[in-house]
Amino acid sequence: MRFESKLPDVGTTIFTVMSRRALEEGALNIGQGFPDYPIDPRLAAALIDAVREGHNQYAPMEGVVALREQIAAKLHASYGVHVDPIGEITVTCGATEALFDAVQAVLGPGDEAIVFDPAYDAYEPAVRLAGGRCVRIALAPPLFRFDWDQVRRALSPRTRLIIINSPQNPSCTVADGGDLDALAALIRDRPITVLADEVYEHVLYDGRLHASTLAHPELRERSFTVFSFGKTLHATGWRTGYCVAPPLLTRELRKVHQFNTFSIVAPLQYAIARYLKAHPDAWTGLSAFFQAKRDLLAGRLQGSGLRPIPAAGTYFQLVDYGELSGDTDVDFADRLIREAKIAAIPLSPFYAAPPPMTLLRLCIAKNDATLEAAADRLCAFSAAVRAKR
Ligand SMILES: Cc1ncc(COP(=O)(O)O)c(C=O)c1O
Repeated sequence: MRFESKLPDVGTTIFTVMSRRALEEGALNIGQGFPDYPIDPRLAAALIDAVREGHNQYAPMEGVVALREQIAAKLHASYGVHVDPIGEITVTCGATEALFDAVQAVLGPGDEAIVFDPAYDAYEPAVRLAGGRCVRIALAPPLFRFDWDQVRRALSPRTRLIIINSPQNPSCTVADGGDLDALAALIRDRPITVLADEVYEHVLYDGRLHASTLAHPELRERSFTVFSFGKTLHATGWRTGYCVAPPLLTRELRKVHQFNTFSIVAPLQYAIARYLKAHPDAWTGLSAFFQAKRDLLAGRLQGSGLRPIPAAGTYFQLVDYGELSGDTDVDFADRLIREAKIAAIPLSPFYAAPPPMTLLRLCIAKNDATLEAAADRLCAFSAAVRAKR
C-alpha cells in the first residue's frame, strides 16, 4: 500500500528513547520527568472512594463541575484572579491534550506559530497536524533569556500563535513580568493568540514568583493557559490537566476537545476535587520541596566535571559536561548510560538548529536516595574521565 506519512520525520520522543536505553543498560533513569516516590495517600484514598461511590460513567465533557470549582479557587489563591469555572475552564487528558486542542482550535493551513527552542516536543507536531508551520526562536545557553526583538523580527502576517512555556522545560529558565509585558506589547495590534504552557507554575526557585498569563489582564484576554495535575500532585500517570481561557477561546477549544477525548476519567476528577477541597494548600510547598532536591543534587555534583547550571524553575537540573568531553550531547548521553549507568536527556533534540553546547538535563523529582545514588555514579564517572587524562 502506498502511504504517505503526515509526520515523516517524527520518531519516538527522546524521553522514550532514553528510558528504553536505560532499561537495556540497567541504568538509573533520571532522564524522563516523573517522580519515583508515591502520591499523597489521601489522594489515593480519595480515588478509591470515588470509584466505590459509583463515579464510573462519562464525566461532563467540560470537566466535573466540583473539580472546575476547586480549580477556580486554586487560581484565585495562586494569582488573585477570578475565573469562571463554567465558561473558562476545561479539564483535559493531561496538559498534552490541552496544548493539542488549543493549537487545532487556532491554526489552519499556512498559519505560523512562534515557539522558543529548546521547545517541549509536543508543540511542533500539533502545529503541523493543523497544517501550520513553527517559526522557532532559539534561546541561547546558559541563561536562555527571551529575546523579544528577535520575536518581533519573526512576526509575519501569517503569525497566529505564540507558544510560551514558563518555567521552561528543558532549559529551566522562567519568564518574568517584564517578559509578559513585552509579549503583550508585541501582539497588541495583531491577530495573535497566546498558548501559555504553565505546567511548572509551582516550581520556581530562590524566591522567584510565577508570572502567569492569567494574572496579566491584557494577555489573559487572548491566552489559552495550560496546567497539569500530573506535575502539581506528583501524579503524571493520572493524565489530568486543564486549560483556562476566555469564553470565546474556550468555546473553540471545546469543539476540538469533545471530539478528541470527549471527557476525562471521571473518578480521577472527583478524587482531585475532593482532595483539593480537603487540602486547599496541598501544592503550596512544591517550590521548597523541589528546591531542596535541586540543592541536594547540585551540591553533590559541585567540583565534579558535571557543572550544575543554577535552575530557575521546573523539576529539572542542567549540568555542563564541557570539561569532560567535547562530544555532542546525544553521544555524551549515550556514553553516560553505558559507562556511568545514568540516563539523562540531551538538549539538542529540542532545537531546530542547536547552538554549540554541552548540556544534559537531569530530573530531580526523585527520592533523595535516588538523587544521591545518581550523584555518586556521576561523580565516580567524572573522576574516572579526569584520571585518564
Ligand atoms: C513543558 C511541558 N508541557 C507539557 C507537559 C505535558 O504534561 P502532561 O503530562 O500533563 O500531559 C510536560 C510534561 O513533561 C511538560 O514538561
